[in-house]
Amino acid sequence: MTPSLEPTTTTPTPVVLDVDTGVDDALALMFAVRSPDVDVRAISCVAGNADVDQVVANTFAVLDALDAPAIPVGRGAERPLVEPARDARHIHGADAMGDQGLPDSSREPADGGAIDVMRRAILESPEPVTLVPLAPMTNVALLLRAYPEVRDNLAGIVLMGGAVDGGNATAVAEFNVWHDPEAAAIVLAAGVPVTMYGLDVFTQVVVEAKTYEVLRGDPDPAVALAGRLLAHSHDVIRADPRVGHGGLIGDAGAACVVARPDLVTVRRWPVHVELAPGRSRGQTVVDRRYVLGEDAVHGVESLGHLVDVAVEIDAARASDLFLTTICAGPGASQVDDTARAVQR
Ligand code: RIB
Ligand code: CA
Repeated sequence: MTPSLEPTTTTPTPVVLDVDTGVDDALALMFAVRSPDVDVRAISCVAGNADVDQVVANTFAVLDALDAPAIPVGRGAERPLVEPARDARHIHGADAMGDQGLPDSSREPADGGAIDVMRRAILESPEPVTLVPLAPMTNVALLLRAYPEVRDNLAGIVLMGGAVDGGNATAVAEFNVWHDPEAAAIVLAAGVPVTMYGLDVFTQVVVEAKTYEVLRGDPDPAVALAGRLLAHSHDVIRADPRVGHGGLIGDAGAACVVARPDLVTVRRWPVHVELAPGRSRGQTVVDRRYVLGEDAVHGVESLGHLVDVAVEIDAARASDLFLTTICAGPGASQVDDTARAVQR
């Protein structure tokens, strides 16, 4: 059944998105800007998939394609807190947008930069804001260190990052955490509710080729761009038998969870970010034990901070919600019902 576009609550959830746009950050921006359940108050950009200036330019290109209002966009950290910047252009393309050749934008970043844009958006909101990091968490860590009072008006943090089992940047570490492990550790310890949308669910939500090919022909520039980005995503991951059956919506899945928290099943576990140099650096160590171990009994290790870890997702419903939402924007024709019916 196609999910209703009707908001699940009387008022949309105010959010601040932190992005490293990025093929899938672009899909997340499309969903968040067009969802009736989400109110995008500000967007902060950080180095990750590409350098921060490319991320800003890509974010503007997506907002232009969406014909989005003038949402405050801040330019943030050029590199992680400790490590050098190490991009993911081998996945996202030379321009980190699947090399679509998008036109330049006339939009300008807000004065003051990303940390100030985030601070103002959170502290000036009459209702608590949900912070949605979809990138390395350098900006968010700097915000929490410089302006800890923002925690008083945060409903929570819904982050794309980490994994219970397995990595992508390394054998055990997910890119957003691996890129800036210190920042991720600071964010997990923020002292507000944290939901971790990790690779375990991130890799399950796809749009099949027969559907994204329909999107590519849509007269709405944003929908057509989404189709091209999903095709790029599919081409890149086709070799992976676990996810190769379509284009990943990636970060957009985390944005869908903000709109529909019941899309995922979460378990509240201690999560520790491995900071020690070596092959495990950047791993999210998710402690699923039910009984204290010797490490705790003998005071060897501190437990990680309790995090709501997404362990299951209704992938079909998430994919449908994503499609229904982005295709309901101004100027979009409906995705062919047959294609969507096949998608289910
Ligand atoms: O590991 C996937 C994450 O890293 C996504 O957010 C992707 O955009 C990159 O930032
Ligand atoms: Ca991202």
